Amino acid sequence: MRVAVLASGHGSNLQALLDAFRDPDAAAAVALVVSNKAGAGALERAAAAGVPTATIAEDGRDAMRLLALLAEHRIELVVLAGYLKRVPDDVVRAFRGRMLNVHPALLPAFGGPGMYGRRVHEAVLKSGARVSGATVHLVDEQYDHGEIVAQWPVPVRADDTPETLAARVLAVEHRLLPAVVLAFARHGAAPGACDPASAAGAPAVSLPRSLDDALAAR
Ligand code: GRF
Repeated sequence: MRVAVLASGHGSNLQALLDAFRDPDAAAAVALVVSNKAGAGALERAAAAGVPTATIAEDGRDAMRLLALLAEHRIELVVLAGYLKRVPDDVVRAFRGRMLNVHPALLPAFGGPGMYGRRVHEAVLKSGARVSGATVHLVDEQYDHGEIVAQWPVPVRADDTPETLAARVLAVEHRLLPAVVLAFARHGAAPGACDPASAAGAPAVSLPRSLDDALAAR
């Protein structure tokens, strides 16, 4: 399955996908990386892996260019991995059921407009929650709102800072996202035909077996 990754920043989730699908026989492959930031680390990671890259306008609103890029590269699944702009509705509609986002908290809590990066983990710590986690969900026309496909819990420690919690959640994202993409590749990702329940079936990439393992993954 040909996957496009949209990223605005560092690209560690992209790197997890590149690493997971490095084998040419893998059921999925990152076929295109698009960023709204010309200097994004994600673009460098893609180039280093020999994956085609493209940039779009910083506001991310050029739906026609985005649709043309996705068609040109015969993309079947779009993954938002640290992409900070809202995807134009025309693109969301064209990829209904075939566009995923990864969020560093247990949605529907701690999500929505402006809830990204450090702010998410600050809000989790301020809330007193004892468990946070990673979420992969289908993208719809609202931020962090589409149907949840998979989540994995991450314990919050009494001495956590936003940075230590972010690092522990990110390590789990790096396992959860490739597992979900692989599940989509195995179950097909036709528009609307995707049944998140089935797509979140037995992931092929080993997830942390327990919270201790997730903790150890920090
Ligand atoms: C991740 O925490 C992801 O959940 C959020 O943005 C961050 C991206 O990090 N959407 P990276 O650019 O993949 O390293």
